[in-house]
Amino acid sequence: MPIQEIDLTVYPDECDAFGHLNQASFLALFERARWEMLARGPGMDVFSRHGAWPAVRKATVDYHTAALPGDVLRFHQALTHHGRTSFTIRQTARRLRDDALIASAEFVFVCISPEGKPIPVPADFGEFMNARPVPRGDARRVTVNGVNLAVDLRGEGPAVLFIHGYPLDRTIWEPQLGALNGWRRIAPDLRGMGLSDAPDLGYSMATYAADLAALLDTLGVDRVVLCGLSMGGYIAFEFLRRWRERVAGLVLVDTKAEADSAEGKRSRDEAAALAREGGAAAIAETMLPKMLGPSAAASLVERVRQIMSAAPVAGIVGALTAMRDRADSTALLPDLRGLPTLVMVGSEDRMTPPARASAMASAIPDARLIVVSGAAHLPTLEQPSVVTDALRAFLAGLAGG
Ligand code: MLT
Repeated sequence: MPIQEIDLTVYPDECDAFGHLNQASFLALFERARWEMLARGPGMDVFSRHGAWPAVRKATVDYHTAALPGDVLRFHQALTHHGRTSFTIRQTARRLRDDALIASAEFVFVCISPEGKPIPVPADFGEFMNARPVPRGDARRVTVNGVNLAVDLRGEGPAVLFIHGYPLDRTIWEPQLGALNGWRRIAPDLRGMGLSDAPDLGYSMATYAADLAALLDTLGVDRVVLCGLSMGGYIAFEFLRRWRERVAGLVLVDTKAEADSAEGKRSRDEAAALAREGGAAAIAETMLPKMLGPSAAASLVERVRQIMSAAPVAGIVGALTAMRDRADSTALLPDLRGLPTLVMVGSEDRMTPPARASAMASAIPDARLIVVSGAAHLPTLEQPSVVTDALRAFLAGLAGG
């Protein structure tokens, strides 16, 4: 468990007459979690040894659902602002058994000297709070647009940006990232997914696209081939609306251009309620049969279940909101004339069926379509070599042209 996560149990004497954890006790638990974290990290005296008193200046708490005696709450704390004399900590409390978000809170602190004057935040506190788990493999951490993203960066050459779908992470591109030598492969976890930060609010296609543009700026990449799977395709369309001149080629995998129908929007809200109640695991169970075809190997089913079950609830709810409210992109398709485009779809995909992908490919002037047999919504993992070979050939054509 990362050191910024602390488990605390709710006791009956902290609860009100209805048996719910009361507000005063909740504040005390948030405070206890912060001190516990310091005790396990730089020491509870990290402030006093510098003569600083961390005084709370502002507290904002959102209570989402009740906590009851015996519940074990997992408190997560992250530094969201680090000024000279002040800092802000965001905390969440999730019920351990089902990952349901119980409450989230933000506390603004100012460091005060014994004379009552603001003094600098101790450096060792800042270093401790900014230390983050290092993602496995080739991933780095990059802060852009107010969030810290985990990004897989491999190779040299013209850049390809891989944008994963919902509720997934960058590892759905693993076979392609490992194989496409001669290209600079950039695969971030979107905000709210994988190992990236998951703010409670502020999700939209515009925000995801702005994160990606800022990431490219930070990496010094001007032009890029966009490669989006499902929700990653929705984000690619938004990116194209804003920064068409930065896009050298487009790959759309198991995605669609239409906005959600009224019924689709209602299902997003139902899924968000399910995520809040049942956590990421409940979402994973409903999504699994749609993601993979009936012939998927048990090990792949398990791998995809694990990716989805690890998604933070805030990121799931945020993505559902962003997808619900996304613009229709069908009018954009004819305008993509001159942009080399590859459309791929799994032959067994029920979420974005081949007929839909074919109609989308026909509406894009310079697109070609590949239907991947023996795959549903995740051909990158279900038929990795077919997808990698198709991508390699498409990219070679771009390099040649
Ligand atoms: C995805 O795979 O990104 C989502 O399933 C897309 C969607 O739900 O519209």
